[in-house]
Amino acid sequence: MSGYILAIDQGTTSTRSMLFDAAMTVVSVVQQEFRQFYPNSGWVEHDADEIWESVLKTARQAIDKAGIDASEIAAIGITNQRETTVVWDRDTGKPLHPAIVWQDRRTARVCEDLKGQGLEQLFTDRTGLLLDPYFSGTKLAWLLDTVDGLRAKAEAGQACFGTIDSWLIYKLTGGKAHVTDATNAARTLIYNIGDNRWDNELLDILKIPAAMLPEVKDCAADFGIADKTHLGADIPILGVAGDQHAALIGNACFEPGMFKSTYGTGCFALLNTGEDRVASKNRLLTTIGYRLDGKTTYALEGSIFIAGAAVQWLRDELGFISAAKEAGELAAKADPNQAVYLVPAFTGLGAPHWDADARGAMFGMTRSTGPAEFARAALESVVYQTYDLLEAMKKDWQGSKAETVLRVDGGMVASNWTMQRLADILDAPVDRPAMLETTVFGAAWLAGSRAGLWPDRDAFARTWQREHRFEPDMQAEARASRLDGWAQCVKACLGVKL
Ligand code: G3P
Repeated sequence: MSGYILAIDQGTTSTRSMLFDAAMTVVSVVQQEFRQFYPNSGWVEHDADEIWESVLKTARQAIDKAGIDASEIAAIGITNQRETTVVWDRDTGKPLHPAIVWQDRRTARVCEDLKGQGLEQLFTDRTGLLLDPYFSGTKLAWLLDTVDGLRAKAEAGQACFGTIDSWLIYKLTGGKAHVTDATNAARTLIYNIGDNRWDNELLDILKIPAAMLPEVKDCAADFGIADKTHLGADIPILGVAGDQHAALIGNACFEPGMFKSTYGTGCFALLNTGEDRVASKNRLLTTIGYRLDGKTTYALEGSIFIAGAAVQWLRDELGFISAAKEAGELAAKADPNQAVYLVPAFTGLGAPHWDADARGAMFGMTRSTGPAEFARAALESVVYQTYDLLEAMKKDWQGSKAETVLRVDGGMVASNWTMQRLADILDAPVDRPAMLETTVFGAAWLAGSRAGLWPDRDAFARTWQREHRFEPDMQAEARASRLDGWAQCVKACLGVKL
């Protein structure tokens, strides 16, 4: 069968458009970075129009590069940075404020106030999330309180709220569709993941008018038609999922007990728990893994804020390496007799600690500690944090298969040294897939299967291929002593408020 799938991955620092053919092979890729704005301490913003333009530009270039006609594209799939909050005018399609990015901490006090009123359990019961500024709900409440005239417009149905997927679909369809998918909705702090609807009680608490919310659809659904004025042909948008959910799909983790970990700037681990909506007792998040054919599959999620960012720190701030790929080679040269640890709490610690005030620290340095030990400590910090997440997951969910294998993806997994250390510390195999672009691949599959061009779920899962399996190879005693060292270091960091 002929026909192409255009998959758009709108991430935190860059936008990528990729064209796949009917055989699920990548035909062209175009990537573009865009600006980050830090208007205040702890604030992070994006220009929603600039994001939209980056999508248009990369998509057009990907089509040109592939040498195809836009009319040959059967469907569009979209995946995106989650939680980032956009408000815009329903008539003009103009943003009413810069987008507030998921990393933004401006609503920390609002969250503390809500916790002080004893409301966290209610939010967790309904949404699976915690009261943390990470999620969209309090960002939207802040916008409604701050932007002149927004509340009145929202109440009159003249202002729209959306995560990035919603914003892009609105623009692509020329304002005809104001929609989102269940995975993006699940990250807003106002979506009831049990009943699959916006939660009126939570909307009342945050004073958010329902009239500004998008309609929520399955991940593979008819989201609208991208207007021909944008890409040269009318093209249906048939697949949408938040990036971590798309990576779960792209890594074919469709069975309960399967889990994936994506190593980008941060690290996000998702465990498929099937129909079980597991309430975490260990400060993990419960989320919608994906929703297909009206059926919700749940997941437990652990989010670490610093993963690849620790390697960037080695490169940009310390100057110990000139390219990220050198980190593993340098780490391999570290003195095995030095127990040096880095707790990379540069922006606080995420799951399972959720301590926004914690800050980074190095432990165990001696006079002979140098760049190689720093590199090893940085890479190992990612490994240890993954261990903490998976331990919390095991405690939360007993349904784990005896033979658990972690599927990994993202830039850092190119480092053999890091992946071997991950298998050693987890004491479990780690599978690196042949297709490393799992996030965008997941979005492409949603659209491609809905278009009838790509295989169905089970057949797609069978196409998943391993490039390499890293088997654990560390003595139990050495492993236990390293983990003990790590636990002590984290504990020390959690105690320090500077
Ligand atoms: O929850 C935030 C996450 O979706 C961001 O992912 O890859 O854009 O940094 P990424």
